[in-house]
Amino acid sequence: MLKHGEFALYQELRDFIKGKPKNESSLISILHKTQNLFGYCPQEAQELIAKELALPVSRVFGVVTFYSYFTLKPRGKYNISICLGTACYVKGAQQLVAACSKELGIENGETTKDLLFSMAPTRCLGDCSKAPVVMINDQLHGEVTEKELVRILQDLRKKEAAQGQAEVAPQEEAARTKEGKQ
Ligand code: FES
Repeated sequence: MLKHGEFALYQELRDFIKGKPKNESSLISILHKTQNLFGYCPQEAQELIAKELALPVSRVFGVVTFYSYFTLKPRGKYNISICLGTACYVKGAQQLVAACSKELGIENGETTKDLLFSMAPTRCLGDCSKAPVVMINDQLHGEVTEKELVRILQDLRKKEAAQGQAEVAPQEEAARTKEGKQ
């Protein structure tokens, strides 16, 4: 059963597949499209891709689970990767994981219920001189302390809340105007 709004996404996915060769060479690019459209690779989409490319569903599933870019569950808007490579580990990465978990109420590898934040375990991010390192989406934060990380998370939450209010305000204003006219 499709959720609200998913019909259009599946239609876009079908259109994308139409333009691709119907064999395994198209699999990765179609999965990229799927991950970008849905924020993950849903089971139904994997079945559709398998059918269109005449592949076993197990083959599609195997590729999804092999590459860390693809996920089986929705990711949050902000993906937090706390480096657990050796240099970061000795500089207190585990304490950062604990502080982040406590602040967000999730374990490493999970997503918050509001789909705002995901935590993903990661190995060396290639910037060991700035250990401990945290990546939030495409932005790298070096020499991060627990306090700083919590502040960054709280700032992102505030920013999202402010944006949510900014979007609601014109609707409320329109509703008030409408009521006033009646
Ligand atoms: S070990 Fe963390 S960036 Fe290299």
